[in-house]
Amino acid sequence: MQDQINTIMDETLAAIADSGDLKGLDDIRVAALGKKGAVTGLMKQLGGLDPDARREVGQELNRVKDAVQSAIDARKEELERAELNLRLEVERVDVSLPPRPEALGSVHPVSQVMDEIIAIFCEMGFAVAEGPDIEDDWLNFGALNIPDEHPARQEHDTFYLPASGEEGRPVLRTHTSPVQIRHMLSHQPPLRIIAPGRTYRSDSDMTHTPMFHQVEGLVIDETTHMGHLKGCLRDFVEAFFQVDNVPMRFRPSYFPFTAPSMEIDIGCSFEGGELKIGEGDDWLEILGSGMVHPNVLRHGGIDPDKYQGFAFGMGIDRVAMLKYGIPDLRSFFDADLRWLRHYGFRPLDVPTLYGGLAR
Ligand code: DAH
Repeated sequence: MQDQINTIMDETLAAIADSGDLKGLDDIRVAALGKKGAVTGLMKQLGGLDPDARREVGQELNRVKDAVQSAIDARKEELERAELNLRLEVERVDVSLPPRPEALGSVHPVSQVMDEIIAIFCEMGFAVAEGPDIEDDWLNFGALNIPDEHPARQEHDTFYLPASGEEGRPVLRTHTSPVQIRHMLSHQPPLRIIAPGRTYRSDSDMTHTPMFHQVEGLVIDETTHMGHLKGCLRDFVEAFFQVDNVPMRFRPSYFPFTAPSMEIDIGCSFEGGELKIGEGDDWLEILGSGMVHPNVLRHGGIDPDKYQGFAFGMGIDRVAMLKYGIPDLRSFFDADLRWLRHYGFRPLDVPTLYGGLAR
C-alpha cells in the first residue's frame, strides 16, 4: 500500500506542476481527492487494516491529502497570476499614442470667453472672486439697495427656494452683484475684483435662457471716480474685441446699487446680416455700470464718507455671441456635439494677452 501511496502522490504532484489551466487543475483535484478519487479510494480501504497499520496509513494519507491540496492551491495562484498578466499585456493602453482626432474634446465658447475676460482684467490688476449660486435673499437684493417693494425684484424673475428656518428664502442668484457684498464684507479696501459665474432668471426665449452667465466688476478705494470707470471699460472693450478706438456710448440709466448709473453701448454695423464691431452707425448695449451707491458700501461694512468706487455687470453669453458670431443663445446650452465642434476651442488655446485673445 505504501508503494501505491507514493505513486499516487508522485503522479498527482507531477500533474499539478504540469497543469496549464484552472479547469485541468480542478480535474486533477477531483481525480485525487474527489469522492471517487485515488486518495479517497485508499481511505476507504483503511477499514480492512489492523488498528496499528490503520492509524499509520491513515496519518500518511492525511499528509498526502494536505500536500496535494496545498500544491493545488499554490499552482492555482500561479495560474491566476499568469492569466492576469496576460490580460494586462493584451489590453495594455499605450498612453504615448496620439489621441484619435474624433475623441478630442473642445472648450465651450462661454468657458473660453470667461478665460479671455479673466486674462484681460487680471492684467489690469483685478483678482477673481466667487460666490455661491444659491444666494441669500438679502445679499441678492436687500444689501444691493433693492428693498422688498422695489420693482426691480419683479424684473428679476427670481427662482425662490423653500425657506429654511428663521432665515429668509434662499434664491438662485439673479445676478453676480451679490459677490460685491460678500467681497466687501470679507476684505478691506482697496478692492479690485471681477466675479464671473452662473446666474438664473425664470425667462426663456431667443435671447434669454433660465441659466446664463455674468461677470461683475468692483473697484473701491479713496479716490476712484467715473473717469477710471470709463478708462477701465474702454481698455477692456478694445482688448476683448481686438479693435482700436471703438466708438462707445455711456448712456445714463438706473440701477438701485449705483448712482449715477449708466449703460455702455459699443458702435457696430449690421450689414448683410453680418455684425461688425467698431464701425457703422448702430449701437449695441453690452453692460451696466455706475458709481457704487453709498447704501451698498454701508451694507458691505465700508464707510462711504471715506471710500468710493465703481461697479459693472456684463452678460458673458451675449459678448461671446457678439465676438464669435454665434446667432442663437439657446444653442449654447443644447450640448450638441456638432455645434461644439464648430464653435468650440482647442483645449490648449489658452487665452492670454501676449498669446492672443481671438480664434
Ligand atoms: N446686476 C445688473 C444686472 O443683473 C448688472 C449691473 C449693472 C451690475 C450695473 C453692476 C452695475 O455692478 O453697476 O443686470
